[in-house]
Amino acid sequence: MEQRRRRRRSWGLLAAIASLIWSVRCAGGIGANWGTQASHLLPPSTVVQMLKDNGIDKVKLFDAEAGPMNALAKTGIQVMVGIPNDMLAGLATDEKAAERWVSKNASKYIDDGVDVRFVAVGNEPFLASYRGSFLRTTLPALQNIQAALIAAGLSNQVKVTVPLNADVYESSTGKPSGGDFRTDIRDPMLSIVKFLSDNGAPFTVNIYPFISLYDDPNFPVDYAFFDGSSSSIVDGSLTYSNVFDANHDTLVASLRKNGFGNLSIIVGEVGWPTDGDINANPRTAQRFNQGFLRHISGGNGTPLRPGNVEAYQFSLVDEDEKSIQPGNFERHWGVFAFDGSRKYELNLRPADSNSSSSLVGAKNVKYLDRKWCVLKSSANLSDSQIAQSMSYACANADCTSLGYRTSCGDLDAQGNISYAFNSYYQKNDQDWKECEFSGLGTVTEKDPSTATCKFEIMIDVGGAARPGTTTAVGFGLSMFLYVALPLTLTLA
Ligand SMILES: *[C@@H]1O[C@H](CO)[C@@H](O)[C@H](O)[C@H]1NC(C)=O
Ligand SMILES: *[C@@H]1O[C@H](CO)[C@@H](O)[C@H](O)[C@H]1NC(C)=O
Ligand SMILES: *[C@@H]1O[C@H](CO)[C@@H](O)[C@H](O)[C@H]1NC(C)=O
Ligand SMILES: *[C@@H]1O[C@H](CO)[C@@H](O)[C@H](O)[C@H]1NC(C)=O
Ligand SMILES: *[C@@H]1O[C@H](CO)[C@@H](O)[C@H](O)[C@H]1NC(C)=O
Repeated sequence: MEQRRRRRRSWGLLAAIASLIWSVRCAGGIGANWGTQASHLLPPSTVVQMLKDNGIDKVKLFDAEAGPMNALAKTGIQVMVGIPNDMLAGLATDEKAAERWVSKNASKYIDDGVDVRFVAVGNEPFLASYRGSFLRTTLPALQNIQAALIAAGLSNQVKVTVPLNADVYESSTGKPSGGDFRTDIRDPMLSIVKFLSDNGAPFTVNIYPFISLYDDPNFPVDYAFFDGSSSSIVDGSLTYSNVFDANHDTLVASLRKNGFGNLSIIVGEVGWPTDGDINANPRTAQRFNQGFLRHISGGNGTPLRPGNVEAYQFSLVDEDEKSIQPGNFERHWGVFAFDGSRKYELNLRPADSNSSSSLVGAKNVKYLDRKWCVLKSSANLSDSQIAQSMSYACANADCTSLGYRTSCGDLDAQGNISYAFNSYYQKNDQDWKECEFSGLGTVTEKDPSTATCKFEIMIDVGGAARPGTTTAVGFGLSMFLYVALPLTLTLA
C-alpha cells in the first residue's frame, strides 16, 4: 500500500514534467470532433483525407471504433479517444477491464502507428440531465485507466481526461470571478481535478454559446459571437465581450478558487449548428466559428488565461442519428454536411496569411441514384393517412430541417410531407417499398429541392447502413412503435 502510494507520487512528478514538455509541443491549432452517430457514414479513409486536406491535425473520437482508429494510423494526426459513459461502471470496478481496454484500444493502435495523445474517460458524465448516474463511477474509472496506462508504459505519451459540460461550474455573481463548481457535485469534481492535476492531465470542457442563446430568449445575441458587443461584462479590471471567454474564465476562477489555478484546459467541443433552430443556419455558424478561430489565432487566450487555446471544433460532419432530445439542431453541428460537402466558407488558420478560406470537402463520395420520394400530387391532403405516414417517416428518419425558420421551414404542406417521405426513403437506401406510404408516395427523378431546402440523396454505403437504422419490421407493425415528434403537423 505504502509502496504503491510512493510510486504514485513519483509518477506524479514525472507526469508534471512530461506535461510541461507536452504542452509546449502541442500548442494551439484547431482539432475536430469526429462523431459517427449517422445512418450513412463516409468511409473512414475519406474522412481522414478530408482532415489532411484541411490541415486538421487533431481529432477527438467518442469511441475507439476500429474503422476510424485504423484509418488514423501513420497519418501524424493526434487522437483523443473516448470511452462511452456506459462503460464507466465496468471500468470503475474492474482493474483488469481497464487493462484490457488500454491494451486493445490504446496500446494496439499505438503499435500500429496511431498517435493517441489522450483518453477521454466518459463524455459529459456529470451532465445535470443524467441525474448523477455516473457520479460514483467516473473517478474510479479514470484512476483505473490511468493505472493501466502506467502499467503499459504509456502514461507519458497518453494523458487521461474527462470531457465535462460547462454546467459543472457556475458563478454566484454572474461574473467569471465568482466561479466555482456546482454545489451538488463539488466534492466529486474536486477529486477529479486533483487527480488530473497530480497526473499532469488536462481539464476538458465543452463550451456552447449557442445553447446560452437557445435556452434564454433574452440572451444578448451579439454576446454569443466575437465581433464586438454592446453587452460586455465588466469583472473587476477585466472586460468580457463574448460569452465564450466569460464561460472559460468562470472555469479558470473555479480552478483557482480550489487551488488548481495552473491546471491546463482543453476545449473539447465548441461550435455552432446550421439548422433545426431559428438561430442555427450557415450564416450564424460561419459568424461564430470564424469569429472563434480568429479569436484564438492570435495566441492571446482569454483574459484570465493568456496564451494558446487548445480546442476541438464540434463537429466535423452532421450526424442524422443523434438524439434530438436536446433540440432539433442536434443533428446539424457539422462544419461539413453528412456527405462531407461544405456548408459555408471557413478559414481554419486565419493567422496564416497563406491559409485559404475554402474548406476542402470530401472527395470521391459515392451517392445513391438521383431519385427522390415525394407525396403524389394527386393525394388528398385531408386524407387522415397522411399525418400518420408523415409522423412515421419523421420518427424513423430525420425531419429536423422542417420547423419554424429552419432550412425547409418555408415548404407548403405538400412539400413538408414530401420532405419527410424522402428522408425515410433515402435512409432506407432508396428501397422502393419504403416510398409506398399506403399508396401516397411516388418516386421522382425531378429534384424537389428549393433554394434553401435540400432534399438529400444518401451516400451509397453498399447496403451497409447501420443496423437499427433500417426498419426490420414491416410498415404496419412499426406504426405502433413510432415516437412522438416535437413537430406540429398542420395540414390544410
Ligand atoms: C474497445 O473499445 C470499443 C469501442 O468503445 C469497445 O466496444 C470495446 O469493448 C473496447 N475493448 C475493451 C477490451 O474494453
Ligand atoms: C502556477 O505556476 C506559476 C508559474 O509556473 C507558479 O509560480 C505558481 O505557484 C503556480 N500556482 C499553483 C497554484 O500551482
Ligand atoms: C506563404 O507562401 C509563400 C509562397 O508559397 C511562401 O514563400 C511563404 O513562406 C508562405 N508563408 C507562410 C507564413 O507560410
Ligand atoms: C378529400 O378528403 C376529404 C375527407 O376524406 C373529403 O371530404 C374530400 O371530398 C376529399 N377531396 C377530394 C378533392 O377528393
Ligand atoms: C408544413 O406546412 C404548413 C403550411 O402548409 C406549415 O404551417 C407547417 O408548419 C409546416 N411544417 C410541418 C412540420 O408540418
